[in-house]
Amino acid sequence: MKSYTSLQARFLEELDLIKNTTELSTLRAKYIGKSGSVTSALKTLTELPPNERGAAGKAINEDKNFIAATLKEKEDVLKRIEISNKIASNKIDLTLPGYYKKAGGRHPVSIVMKEIVDIFASMGFAIEEGPEVETDYYNFEALNMPKNHPARDMQDTFYVDTGGLTQNASAVDSDVLLRTHTSAVQIRVMKRSAPPLRFIAPGKVYRRDSDITHTPLFHQVEGLMVDTDISFANLKAVLEGFLHLVFGATLPVRFRPSFFPFTEPSTEGDIGCFFCKQTGCRICKGTGWIEILGAGMVNPKVFQMVGYDPELYCGFAFGMGIERITMLKYGIDDIRLFYEGDLRFLQQF
Ligand code: DAH
Repeated sequence: MKSYTSLQARFLEELDLIKNTTELSTLRAKYIGKSGSVTSALKTLTELPPNERGAAGKAINEDKNFIAATLKEKEDVLKRIEISNKIASNKIDLTLPGYYKKAGGRHPVSIVMKEIVDIFASMGFAIEEGPEVETDYYNFEALNMPKNHPARDMQDTFYVDTGGLTQNASAVDSDVLLRTHTSAVQIRVMKRSAPPLRFIAPGKVYRRDSDITHTPLFHQVEGLMVDTDISFANLKAVLEGFLHLVFGATLPVRFRPSFFPFTEPSTEGDIGCFFCKQTGCRICKGTGWIEILGAGMVNPKVFQMVGYDPELYCGFAFGMGIERITMLKYGIDDIRLFYEGDLRFLQQF
């Protein structure tokens, strides 16, 4: 067993009572601080007879070293305890979720537009574009709808007030308008390129109309295929194939005679109503069929307008509304939902 000097024993008893580093500093000062008892004892060595100084000095230094080393050990222990207590009491809760940016999503109209474009691209159709601000010529005139043609009544047009820049200063007489259909792109493309042609033209169109099935801005996809030997059978094959890819291979499709000034003969494509399995409902107005697109063989007068020889070339054209297809695909009953920006609606896609 290690034997302690009386001073060391007294120190150890006091050390036992120490509970923290503050108390420990006080104890250190008391023994080995500047005016601590051991330090003072060292200072009194000179008062001893010279022959006793060596032994006394050695003994005091041993006490001092013992106390310093013991204090250091105890201090390390206390410090560790104090740090772990501090960590325990200052605990940071890391479970609160951080801030994050919500990722945007595709608009349902964009989703369906892309699907339609991809389908026609897979059939070898190129993608063309035209301006949304058009002239009367491309939107009506060149499509065999001369001024005062009754067919223009079908399109309630937004005219652009050109502020006197054109000959007709009044807005309503303006030749500048927001295109009412993508058919205008047919003319632009045919005027700048020679046949054969096979393209679609997706884009925004504008009409003065607003209710649960009409918005002033909506989207269409136009299509045109021109060559020397295009028939109505080609029109049917392309559009039927397309509709089966969009709505399912078993969907019934029919073509009804119709009229458009820029096609002859003209047709409207219907799909069997899948809401009522063709038994008749509100959506198909009891007919079992839903109108989905307009189409026809390009009117020779349109070919003449763009400088194609109508004796040599023939072709088919078609046009469809994207919002309408999107509404049918997803069972949406109000077109205005697309443009109200309500996230509760948009996040479902
Ligand atoms: N432009 C027509 C519309 O907006 C749709 C249309 C019908 C386009 C027949 C065509 C077509 O190319 O051949 O209602």
